[in-house]
Amino acid sequence: MKEIRVDVTDSTQTLAKRLSHIIEGDFIVIAKTQYKGYGRYGRKWFSPEGGLWATLTIRNISIEKLTMMPMIAGIAAAETLQKYINIHVKLKWPNDLIIGDKKIGGILCEAEIEEEKVKNMFIGIGVNINISERELLKELKDKATSLMIETNKTHNINEILFEIVNKIYSLMNEKSEKIIEKWKAHDYLAGRKVKISLEGQTLIGRTKINSDGSLTIITESGEEYRLYSNRIERVDILNS
Ligand code: BTN
Repeated sequence: MKEIRVDVTDSTQTLAKRLSHIIEGDFIVIAKTQYKGYGRYGRKWFSPEGGLWATLTIRNISIEKLTMMPMIAGIAAAETLQKYINIHVKLKWPNDLIIGDKKIGGILCEAEIEEEKVKNMFIGIGVNINISERELLKELKDKATSLMIETNKTHNINEILFEIVNKIYSLMNEKSEKIIEKWKAHDYLAGRKVKISLEGQTLIGRTKINSDGSLTIITESGEEYRLYSNRIERVDILNS
């Protein structure tokens, strides 16, 4: 697979989108730092040196696989990180990688669809690897962590990235039941009371993962809502 490495870029997502017009086949863009890194809902993504900031572009995925891709990428990242740390790595639907109760990374999947096919799937992978507590922004300190902070040592970013990428491809060959089963083994929301904020609406209840990768929230009054990740603004855990 083609690898494009840069020291600095605005965002590996936007660079991958620009390059998708000139590169054929799947490719990966890797940056040491990003000055306009972004997460879901266009939120700013802090991307200093020492992090894993990459976008894997996969071509011609079937529409059925589309909703599974954020999960596949999340599981691949969680299973990989798990090899480096004793604490259980969790996945907070739809896209957060969690260690303890802190965020260590996130996945951002953006798709370009043409004639019933996913022409380009841009899978953004962001993981805080060799970032010290001092480097984490003040406002992130209580909410974020890094692999180095958790393990007291530095790690090989490249090795971790390619393990994640290989896992993504192998998980793409698995049936969705298997993917869901794997997700459940890392599910941070399981059994918890959560508050989900959608555009103009807030839902409180307990959740379950569906076979297509969507999430159902069952409210205290017993109503059920099926949610797709693109509509979710925030998911908060409530003390119950
Ligand atoms: C999220 O938690 O909202 C997802 C964050 C995804 C961040 C990664 S870092 C590499 C790629 N480039 C970006 O600008 N964003 C993704």
